[in-house]
Amino acid sequence: MKLLVTGGAGYIGSHTCVALLEAGHDVTVIDNLCNSSAIALQRVQEITGRSLRFVEGDIRNPEHLADAFEGGVDAVIHFAALKAVGKSCEQPLAYFDNNIGGTIALMQAMEQAGVSRLVFSSSATVYGQPEKVPVREDAPLNATNPYGRTKLVMEQLIQDWCASRPETAAVLLRYFNPVGAHPSGLIGEDPRGEPDNLMPYVAQVAVGRRERLRIYGDDYPTPDGTGVRDYLHVMDLARAHRKAVDYAAAHPGCEAFNLGTGRGYSVLELVQAFEQASGKPIPYEISTRRAGDVAELTAEPALANAKLRWVATHDIHAMCADAWNWQSKNPNGYSRDMSFNTYSR
Ligand SMILES: NC(=O)c1ccc[n+]([C@@H]2O[C@H](COP(=O)([O-])OP(=O)(O)OC[C@H]3O[C@@H](n4cnc5c(N)ncnc54)[C@H](O)[C@@H]3O)[C@@H](O)[C@H]2O)c1
Repeated sequence: MKLLVTGGAGYIGSHTCVALLEAGHDVTVIDNLCNSSAIALQRVQEITGRSLRFVEGDIRNPEHLADAFEGGVDAVIHFAALKAVGKSCEQPLAYFDNNIGGTIALMQAMEQAGVSRLVFSSSATVYGQPEKVPVREDAPLNATNPYGRTKLVMEQLIQDWCASRPETAAVLLRYFNPVGAHPSGLIGEDPRGEPDNLMPYVAQVAVGRRERLRIYGDDYPTPDGTGVRDYLHVMDLARAHRKAVDYAAAHPGCEAFNLGTGRGYSVLELVQAFEQASGKPIPYEISTRRAGDVAELTAEPALANAKLRWVATHDIHAMCADAWNWQSKNPNGYSRDMSFNTYSR
């Protein structure tokens, strides 16, 4: 299939491009590199031995999108978004414009190009503060911050769009906590500035870029008092996108799926697993709870297991080992390594 991947230079997008190219698909990436590096795409090609087409552009720009759709597209995988919860509270309009505006522009371009299959990056954040865990797809939806609201609104817009065009198929993938890296260590998570998520923070402490980890709250009603999350290896997640594209080809309509392992780990358990994988101590300090954080958030992945025929296969040790392999081989991420050419439109 000919696939268009928005945000394909980013963390999850680049790993998904590897899975798609390895499955024999032709891939075009559109990315404005606002939170990523073109080096990631060069490395995707190095890993797979296949080339992809890169359009450096913004999905809110119809000309850039027209460029990306040139040559025909069978399905779109839509990762491009801003994703930092804290920043979304400071700059909600930038998030509404980029995430919601970008998704509307993308659906318009799809309609114009006659493309009717979409796989969308949603998030467990659409469950807000869930009443019970593990969470099922039919649990009540609720946003607790502007980033989460954009995901919720985008899901609803896509649903309405699908309902208006019977031939359209959309798969909404609600990721829990993606971590880890490709086993080669060539691509991985490279956040700009201070990491928002736990795993890259821990990895940067281990490699000596940060002094210590701050753990927000050790008084939650969990076995060791720290928050429990459902971590998921990014290569398992990448594989789920491949399955979702196939599923969309045979199932018109709009459906949502949780992607997680169904097993939760506490912050302290993850820190311990990372210390084992890296052989490095992770000094930490306990601070007060962060507003909006929940005690425990885990997925009920049965629907994805049954309908997408997808199961997460990597455990927490593989997740930590691969995250460390990437971080130790690329202590400063992509940014300081100038030996790769960048791409241009
Ligand atoms: N990483 C997570 O923990 C997580 C969890 C749940 C959902 N998600 C969602 O998954 C998707 C991918 O996340 P990620 O972790 O790979 O983030 P990322 O920031 O690494 O990747 C997003 C990519 O989109 C690009 N982009 C952003 N706005 C764009 C625009 N207007 N035009 C073109 N390109 C644009 C960025 O440059 C970046 O390469 C996002 O939609 C995110 O909200 C991520």
